[in-house]
Amino acid sequence: MEFYHYQPLLDRPVRQKLADLQRNERLKHVIFAQQFSRQRLKHLGEIADMIRGLSRTEEGGIFLSQLLRHKRAMLYFTQASTRTFLSFQAACQILGMQCAEIRDPSLSSEFKGEQPLDSMRMFSSYFDIIFMRSKEPSFAECSAYLMNDLDRNQQRSVPIVNGGSGADEHPTQALLDIYTIQRSFSFSSPRDSKSSNRFDDLRRSYPSLTKGLDNKTYCFCGDIGRGRTVRSVAQLLSLFSNVKMIFVAPRHPKFALQRELRDVLLAAGVIVEEASSLRDVANQVDLVYMTRIQHEHNTPDDAKFFADLDDSLFTLNSGTMRALREYAAILHPFPRNTEIPFEIDSDHRATYFRQARNGMWSRAALTAYLFDIDTTIASHYREVFSTFHDYNQGVLGIT
Ligand code: CP
Repeated sequence: MEFYHYQPLLDRPVRQKLADLQRNERLKHVIFAQQFSRQRLKHLGEIADMIRGLSRTEEGGIFLSQLLRHKRAMLYFTQASTRTFLSFQAACQILGMQCAEIRDPSLSSEFKGEQPLDSMRMFSSYFDIIFMRSKEPSFAECSAYLMNDLDRNQQRSVPIVNGGSGADEHPTQALLDIYTIQRSFSFSSPRDSKSSNRFDDLRRSYPSLTKGLDNKTYCFCGDIGRGRTVRSVAQLLSLFSNVKMIFVAPRHPKFALQRELRDVLLAAGVIVEEASSLRDVANQVDLVYMTRIQHEHNTPDDAKFFADLDDSLFTLNSGTMRALREYAAILHPFPRNTEIPFEIDSDHRATYFRQARNGMWSRAALTAYLFDIDTTIASHYREVFSTFHDYNQGVLGIT
């Protein structure tokens, strides 16, 4: 069976696909960022915090590691990855799940011409969940439809989680990005922001500053047109109220904000602006999401365009850092090139290494949710701890 078998399903608008990726009110497969509602993001952020809190003690770590010890995961990553692959692997290890991996298709029977969807069905025979990254934009989605067909025929079927599909989507990156932003803008933990516990002081300098993701200006900088991470996280940020987004990208039809994403954001009520220089907008923004120029996808014409481009317009430097607000978080999905110089890593606003670590907690939370053990984790957490973080209301006591 090949992808064209599912072409009529693939051709639908995303909103018509969402029901196929659910089981009752919960997610069955994770293919698109749009599957995460505000409520679901809040829930997964809380579960990630609980896993993180429990992991700090041996007792908590042992509790977590018993939860999925009877399950096995396949990590099928045939496109290059460091963070997504390793953080899913670490997430599985936290929950006690064993993993197997395929990273080089030349060492699997794909080399002999095995159909990709046959491979997926084989994986589902041996494993209980498939985390996958592929350069084919539709592969994860088609795999989910294959699993649905198997389910309908009462055959073995497992959840599919998209760890990056071509230039298309990166929903779990968006999930960890939102988790990172939730923590940064709760202004409550020095691990997330040196501005923590200084919210009242910050308000004296920035009177309109609020906690949470509403009422913010988000800046995205770099290769916006080709970036799947920006496409995914921008759509999730559009769920929040009174949001403005500024896209700083080369003025070029391939690398600037694409019309499709702009239309989606405008329809969601986002104020959308474009700019040619990060320095020009730095003092207006609450957060900067940096991305690298994806030179590996360049055509010869693209390479010539970039050779003639002043890339300092899309680079953080000392002037831009001085202009940025004191609490403005700097995110980057990584890997980076030269757009964030190493000197900036020690600045209190540099959030990107914490963001990468948050990938492990938020992917553990998502995995727990997909196996319906999120409520078990929450119950245990509440027995052990007396507080938890409500991302709408700050740190709450539990009675
Ligand atoms: N952010 C991200 O997707 O990193 P990797 O490509 O290393 O997985």
